[in-house]
Amino acid sequence: MSSFLNKAFAASDAHETRKVYDDWATSYEAEIVEHGYVTPDRCAAALHRFADGPDAPVLDFGCGTGLSGQSLHQAGFKVIDGVDLSSQMLTCARAKGVYRNLTQVEAGAALPFEDGAYTLFSAVGAIGAGAAPAGMLHTLMRKLPKGGKLVFSLNDHTLKEPAFEGALSEWIDCGAARLLFREDGPHLPGINLNAAVYVIEKA
Ligand SMILES: C[S@@+](CC[C@H](N)C(=O)[O-])C[C@H]1O[C@@H](n2cnc3c(N)ncnc32)[C@H](O)[C@@H]1O
Repeated sequence: MSSFLNKAFAASDAHETRKVYDDWATSYEAEIVEHGYVTPDRCAAALHRFADGPDAPVLDFGCGTGLSGQSLHQAGFKVIDGVDLSSQMLTCARAKGVYRNLTQVEAGAALPFEDGAYTLFSAVGAIGAGAAPAGMLHTLMRKLPKGGKLVFSLNDHTLKEPAFEGALSEWIDCGAARLLFREDGPHLPGINLNAAVYVIEKA
């Protein structure tokens, strides 16, 4: 595994996570595409299947260099905004030309949009080991209006940490959200890493 991938999985806080992605930005895509990164396409297809149509804006949380936005765009979504911790990753995302707005965010700070502003969220490889903590699932779900949908992925490393599926259960078990879709499948097949993709709807 590359040193950047290892460093990302080992990052212990948002400060380290931002530094890893700032340093990784220019070589991130070549590396993960070489490993066969398929999660953006899997997530975009899953969200497309459950969204009411392609017109509602999608907020791509942890958009990185924009591979997730590109997949959402290819799936047919017309308006995509992105947020990310890393200014360097955002610079690469901007060059893709598929986002309407791109905004840098601070970990722990309020997300820079009103509650209910988006009915569709994606968090592709953006929650879990090497990315945002489990509590981010709660933050995103609180921002969704009733009926809003979130697609996200949790990789094998993340699934070993109970906090992440635990955060999901907190919403599903009490009926605050419905699990519309869960699919295990490849994430980075070149290094035999899998991920589960979920679509949940706020009740
Ligand atoms: C593995 S990359 C995934 C990027 C993109 N979604 C993709 O599929 O290629 C994880 C991204 O999440 C971002 N990230 C991690 N923690 C974050 C946080 N707390 N808030 C916003 N972005 C975060 C990182 O900067 C990084 O760009």
